[in-house]
Amino acid sequence: MPMSKAPGDVQRMEKIVSLCKRRGFIFQSSEIYGGLNGAWDYGPLGVELKRNLKNYWWRVMVHERDDVVGMDGAILTHPAVLKASGHVEGFSDPMVDCRTCNAHLRSDQVVEKSGLKQCPNCGGKDLTEARQFNLMFETHVGAAADETSIAYLRPETAQSIFVQFKNVLEVSRKKLPFGIAQIGKAFRNEINPRNFTFRSREFEQMELEYFCRAEQGIKLLDYWLAERLKFYGNIGIARENLHARNVPDEERAFYSKGTYDIEYDFPFGRQELEGVAYRTDYDLSQHQKASGKSLEYFDEETKQRFIPHVVEPSAGVDRTVLALICEAYSEDQAPNDRGEMETRVVLRFHPRVAPIKCAIFPLLKNKEPLVAKAKAIVDLLRPHMFVFYDESGAIGRRYRRQDEIGTPFGITVDFETLGEKDSALIDTVTLRERDSMKQERIAIKELPNLLLSRIS
Ligand code: GAP
Repeated sequence: MPMSKAPGDVQRMEKIVSLCKRRGFIFQSSEIYGGLNGAWDYGPLGVELKRNLKNYWWRVMVHERDDVVGMDGAILTHPAVLKASGHVEGFSDPMVDCRTCNAHLRSDQVVEKSGLKQCPNCGGKDLTEARQFNLMFETHVGAAADETSIAYLRPETAQSIFVQFKNVLEVSRKKLPFGIAQIGKAFRNEINPRNFTFRSREFEQMELEYFCRAEQGIKLLDYWLAERLKFYGNIGIARENLHARNVPDEERAFYSKGTYDIEYDFPFGRQELEGVAYRTDYDLSQHQKASGKSLEYFDEETKQRFIPHVVEPSAGVDRTVLALICEAYSEDQAPNDRGEMETRVVLRFHPRVAPIKCAIFPLLKNKEPLVAKAKAIVDLLRPHMFVFYDESGAIGRRYRRQDEIGTPFGITVDFETLGEKDSALIDTVTLRERDSMKQERIAIKELPNLLLSRIS
């Protein structure tokens, strides 16, 4: 159930969108030409956040497991693949048009007031009957733009995994249960893209197809739900803001024997982050039938041949990035350079996903030994993590700029570092932690290990 929007939540979302633009997380695509609806560009910080998320997903879903391998399929997809999967026929949303303002609306967005259907844009009551609108982007491959050259931009990464099942099985020599993972772009011509990046026309998915025997399906569905909830905890999303919804029969795809939606409490309501679905043997069976190529698995022990079943955790990269930003956004009170309390905007990212791990500041920029020492620390840390050097402005302001983009650690090189005040403190720095703002004195040589233990 989407929750109603309190004014505070609307305001919070506005602040988040504005911070994303101001600090270079996310920009509207083609902005200088008026923008392309449903498409977004990630700026210097957004791309780091997104990569950290994808790398962590890949690490736990592929590298840290013996039973999963990766692949990277093409975006352009043969129409036969999407005919067999059912997308050409059925991947559509019901749409109505408003005859008053000409808006195209998804049927579920039409407002119902005293039994009358109304346009949410203009309040008009003259709406067309609902018709099915296919969400796939069609294109043409090669010089001839006719029926024979149609291809589609993939609407999900999953289908290339099913279509390559046999090849991957042969080269990886895995035994059931095992999975194939993929991260990549997907495209859907959504009728109403909205809620910032939440519903886009171009987005990325992180999908695992985990193949198994029929009798293992239900148990593995629960296993993957638990694993995926753990994942969100490990990237800093509080458990109380996550909800596992057991999707009822009437809402599930007809071939699915069980599906959970993992939902997150966004400021604009409780919405889906990921689907964990037991898809049975539907996809492989469809592709075997349509292609005429065997997609069976041969069990050496029992000498049986059969089409495996599959459990699929399918997450949205962009939605998770948005959830990370919403979860991290906070305002508190902190002293400024004059010791007066003021409102501080801070993104409390888990250090694992934070775009910049550590900022390094010389106390003064016109003091050469301080600058040289700070730059030496940059060189020391750079092989291990993404760091940022900043020498401009008062130190309090420099901290604040990093708080606002979620940098978990700040290092200041001061006169004590040079041994000018107390020779025992030579080659030590202050390490400041973003959330508590606590500072500790640390030897420079201990920095790499200490920071690595806190960010990974
Ligand atoms: N292979 C299964 C599949 O694609 P889905 O529920 O349609 O299932 C999976 O999509 C995930 O992809 C969603 O939970 C969501 O995170 C993301 N996603 C789907 N449509 C999206 C859109 N228009 N914009 C952003 N993310 C989207």
